[in-house]
Amino acid sequence: MIELRNLRKTYGHGPRAVRALDDVSISVPAGEIFGVVGRSGAGKSTLLRTVNVLERPDSGTVTLDGTLMTGLEGGALRQARRSVGMVFQHFNLLANRSIQQNVEFALEAARVPRGKRASQAAEMLDLVGLKDRGGAYPAQLSGGQKQRVGIARALAAKPRVLLSDEATSALDPETTESILDLIRSINRELKLTVLLITHEMDVVKRICDSAALMENGAIVEQGELVEVIRTPGSKLAAQLFPLAAPADDEGPTVIDITFAGGTADRPVIARLAREHELDVSILGATVERIAGTQAGRTRLALPVAGEAAAAVVADLRRQGLIVEYLKGGAA
Ligand SMILES: Nc1ncnc2c1ncn2[C@@H]1O[C@H](COP(=O)(O)OP(=O)(O)OP(=O)(O)O)[C@@H](O)[C@H]1O
Ligand SMILES: [Mg+2]
Repeated sequence: MIELRNLRKTYGHGPRAVRALDDVSISVPAGEIFGVVGRSGAGKSTLLRTVNVLERPDSGTVTLDGTLMTGLEGGALRQARRSVGMVFQHFNLLANRSIQQNVEFALEAARVPRGKRASQAAEMLDLVGLKDRGGAYPAQLSGGQKQRVGIARALAAKPRVLLSDEATSALDPETTESILDLIRSINRELKLTVLLITHEMDVVKRICDSAALMENGAIVEQGELVEVIRTPGSKLAAQLFPLAAPADDEGPTVIDITFAGGTADRPVIARLAREHELDVSILGATVERIAGTQAGRTRLALPVAGEAAAAVVADLRRQGLIVEYLKGGAA
């Protein structure tokens, strides 16, 4: 597992100093996929690079499967880094070497004996669906194929942890999906622990078990996705279910109802309209599969305010739904 404790990192000095990591703590259990989201400059890449101590934090600790990475230097650190694979946005393949040679090169760097490299590289290319392309050169591959090579290379030395920094950002949506499905299946097959950075919430929804939101070097929210989406006022949940702001003339009461897990398929709105005899209007709705669970958010305008609205909200909450007021009412 990945255990990050109280990481701090400041670049520069004085008034120009940038606090890239501000007391960051994250635990990723073995075999889990953990996503870090946040705006440009939030500190995501800095965080990722501290995991294998390519970036040394000013203070705090990094522990991987019980090994205190921040306590290591030199040869011992290089050795420990072999249990960590990295995938990048721009693939970083060697242009003048074939695909097979690119993966073998990673094995050489990981000190795998010469005699084993060819077969191990071929095995990895097979795993990522490029069995017959070993002789091709990077320029002859599509972006998605290059990223498959990037993943094969990262996994060649059989790491226990995979770090991915915007691995799908340069890819179109369909290719992104196939790369994410590949990471997911490898995660399951090899029991790999994955820490990935993305600015795309679709990536989080598709493959992450847990996620954290970073702002100005700090983690402002983190948790299992199924918990996050049940948390009232969660910024992450709002980003997972973006709904447009209600128009001013809607109301007098506007509420957001979040469904998760078992409550998702109940005919909530029909029942609400019937039992409270209300003409509710649906202002927006989204239903998605998140972390293997059906989840969604519906925005409703109620034609009542005050106690009548509160009674509706109380009734919905009794059914296990998460209800937030956007307009009117008191939470
Ligand atoms: N080597 C460096 N020297 C000085 N400042 C740096 C260095 N690396 C990063 N920073 C600064 O630290 C902050 C965090 O940078 P980081 O690259 O971690 O952000 P990020 O969240 O990955 O952003 P993006 O989404 O754009 O990749 C930024 O303000 C950046 O300018
Ligand atoms: Mg970055």
